[in-house]
Amino acid sequence: MLIAQISDLHVRPAGVLAYGVSETNAYAEQAVHALARLQPAPDLVIVTGDLTDAGLPEEYAFLAGLFDRLPMPVYCIAGNHDRRATLRAALGPKGYLPAEGRLDFVIETRPVRIVGLDSLWEGHGAGRLEPESLTFLADALGAAPEVPTIVAVHHPPFVCGIGHMDRIRLLDGAEHFAAIVEANPQVERVITGHHHRPVAVRWAGTICQIAPSVAHQVTLTLTPDAASDFVLEPPAFLLHKWIEGTGLVTHQAYVQRAPGPFPFFAPKPAAVE
Ligand SMILES: [Fe+2]
Ligand SMILES: [Fe+2]
Repeated sequence: MLIAQISDLHVRPAGVLAYGVSETNAYAEQAVHALARLQPAPDLVIVTGDLTDAGLPEEYAFLAGLFDRLPMPVYCIAGNHDRRATLRAALGPKGYLPAEGRLDFVIETRPVRIVGLDSLWEGHGAGRLEPESLTFLADALGAAPEVPTIVAVHHPPFVCGIGHMDRIRLLDGAEHFAAIVEANPQVERVITGHHHRPVAVRWAGTICQIAPSVAHQVTLTLTPDAASDFVLEPPAFLLHKWIEGTGLVTHQAYVQRAPGPFPFFAPKPAAVE
């Protein structure tokens, strides 16, 4: 089983650049092309929030049209830049989102199942898991304790060392979240977005992995007073492959094509007579 994770697309209305600089709609289109040409093809795509930059209907319409080009299912969780009502209006017809309330869901795939959680805290950049979402998670994990599970949530629940992002991490509900994950060793991975960088940590008895963005990246400044800014480092995404006997293996892939491949062992040139 192969799962592609893309994150933080920050799609904007046509012709608008995110933060006046980042061509996020073009980046999103390039990311979809990169997913479409993967061999082997992923079984599904999970998008870990900040699908749009402002939660506008036209932003979701653009995104839904892009995702419709992919042959595999695409599952989306909400980020702080998303808005529940417009997200649900655009993606609700796909059938996996609840009709009302918070956007928590379970995808009953095998061998790995996926729980998506809604950490959107309206009016805040930071994240919150409300009691409703935590109960949803505990029930979902309790229903299948033997099945390896990925839990997807937009906001990372740990301190990573980039001060301005740490101040808007998962702030509310993080301890209860950790206790639930700790009690469920079938959680192979907690996957997040939000920080626009690839970061991994041991957390609550599992691995918590932050995906890079398929658009702009947060500047790598590991200080508490790091400036809140971004760089146009290469857009990237994650591939999570389930391998029997190993578990869930995570690879980072790049959206842009690179020169190659070149063989390590080229055929020897014919001997000159
Ligand atoms: Fe983001
Ligand atoms: Fe975010």
